[in-house]
Amino acid sequence: MAGRIPENILEDILGRIDIVEIISGYIPLKKAGANFKANCPFHHEKTASFMVSPERQIYHCFGCGESGNAFKFLMRHERMEFPEAVEMLAKKTGVILPDQDKPELARAASLSNQLYKINELAVNYYENNLYAASAAAAIKYLLDRGVKPETIKDFHLGLATASWEGLINYLRSKNISLALMEQAGLVLPKDSGGYYDRFRNRIIFPIFDMRSRMLGFGARVMDNSLPKYINSPETPIYTKGKNLFGLNLSKDFIRDADCAVIVEGYLDFMIPYQEGVKNIVASQGTALTLEQIKLLKRYTYNVVMVYDGDTAGEIATLRSLDILIDEGINVRVFPLPKGMDPDTLVRSKGINALKDKIENAVSFFDYKLNVLKSRHNIKDAQGKAKIASEMLLTINKFDNAILRGEYTKKLSEEMDVPEQHILEELHKLKPAVLAPVAQSINLGVKLPEINPAEKQLIKFMLEEVELIDKVMQQLSPSDFSDARTAKIVSVMHELVLQGKNIEPSVLMNYLNEDEASQLVCETMFMPPLTDQGREKAVNDCILRIKVQRLKSRREHLHIQIKSAQSLGDEDKLNSLIQEFHNLIKKGD
Ligand code: CTP
Ligand code: MN
Repeated sequence: MAGRIPENILEDILGRIDIVEIISGYIPLKKAGANFKANCPFHHEKTASFMVSPERQIYHCFGCGESGNAFKFLMRHERMEFPEAVEMLAKKTGVILPDQDKPELARAASLSNQLYKINELAVNYYENNLYAASAAAAIKYLLDRGVKPETIKDFHLGLATASWEGLINYLRSKNISLALMEQAGLVLPKDSGGYYDRFRNRIIFPIFDMRSRMLGFGARVMDNSLPKYINSPETPIYTKGKNLFGLNLSKDFIRDADCAVIVEGYLDFMIPYQEGVKNIVASQGTALTLEQIKLLKRYTYNVVMVYDGDTAGEIATLRSLDILIDEGINVRVFPLPKGMDPDTLVRSKGINALKDKIENAVSFFDYKLNVLKSRHNIKDAQGKAKIASEMLLTINKFDNAILRGEYTKKLSEEMDVPEQHILEELHKLKPAVLAPVAQSINLGVKLPEINPAEKQLIKFMLEEVELIDKVMQQLSPSDFSDARTAKIVSVMHELVLQGKNIEPSVLMNYLNEDEASQLVCETMFMPPLTDQGREKAVNDCILRIKVQRLKSRREHLHIQIKSAQSLGDEDKLNSLIQEFHNLIKKGD
């Protein structure tokens, strides 16, 4: 994990930061005894099992097993590579990294960084095109659509000309290889060999991530031809459904307003943003994904959806509702009239019309019921059954029984059906709906069972460095039954011999295996023992490990003996039996 960055530097950085402060910059942490807890940002859950220890400077999730120190948190949560996470925290703490005088070299190591760089170059190229004399029509197109010159600049809008090789030639002149251009999704191979520019004759909308890195592009035609938009393909740095367009600009406004307005398109974002509705993000045309919602949850739990007034918008809204509610988000909807989107609304009726709609957005309940009423007949029995079952799917997503009760009551009134019947249908639903959701997103891996004595002993050793030497006089790493515990023990011992610090958050810089560092975190969050003295407990663990070791060696020998018997290998059999007797004498 440590790569080329020396461990003492990592330790220096870790010593200057507070993991609680870092993590609470991304998710809300609540105090829980000596620790802090939160709903785990790495898997779907409704009760908090994600713990952060200020004392140990580590985190661990009891739900999915994800754990680590501050570097690891940034890697997972911000999808940073290790050197990036180190660099970010080094900057924050003022620690000078050894190769900072040649940062380009260090950065070039990562493909992602090369791709960001290429995209930046491409943006330069597209932007320059837009300001060329020959691009008057493109500028006119944007101005006609109500995009102000400052907005064109702020969003780095650009132009892909009709040329088949304009970008290729530009990037070549910057010594970028065609292979990298292809990986960035900017060029496509020709059947006849060679490459051509993916985007031609289109307005370019650069897509940024939360940290304003250039991920890719959306590209729109300037007339009515199809396809209207072409986007960057999926690349190592860009997946459409994982990013929210504009969040880099709007996140502080969203936090301040404690509310996010979600729209579909690039211009549905840009026009309202330009006119003063700044707490806004665009999903880029589809239903919201879980990843996008997780990004939003860092800033607010309140959402207003303003999607296009067409069937696609309606379907996307309905689908998004369920995921939002499932994620505990308070969502309201403003349904736009058919044929209208936020961009056209603002341009035809002004920004106050949009503000007004946001203010008066209706609850998920009213929205969904209205949509369903337009699809089914609420007066006949079949229609009622259909509407009720669809509504209940969403109502069932609420964790809170009181809310569920309120909505079933309301549903029974609106449909003129006894509430008892609604409740019966709801009860039928419960397990079927919960099961797949709970299992669907589990990024972490639960550890297979390890002898509890080994975990306990590691915890003791981490808490009391003096113990390490004492334990190692009685046990060797190979006495531990699991590759991970064996690794942890041997690294700890080695570090102690070198006189180094073995705080858990530092220790894990030396443990390359992800699962071994996960285990360190897990042990640190194990509850302390109360019912017996510490020394006795330590001796107990050592004994149990020895017994376990003996037992597994005996079992192993037993298997070997059987196999020697069946092979008729007399010599081998005799020596194994001898070994077996020795072992029994020693053990019992
Ligand atoms: N989109 C896309 N690819 C398409 C069509 C749409 O990626 N072929 C995405 C774009 O992010 C687009 C959004 O879906 O901004 C919404 O699509 P749509 O409503 O069709 O376009 P608008 O954003 O309204 O674009 P415009 O106002 O320029 O017509
Ligand atoms: Mn539009």
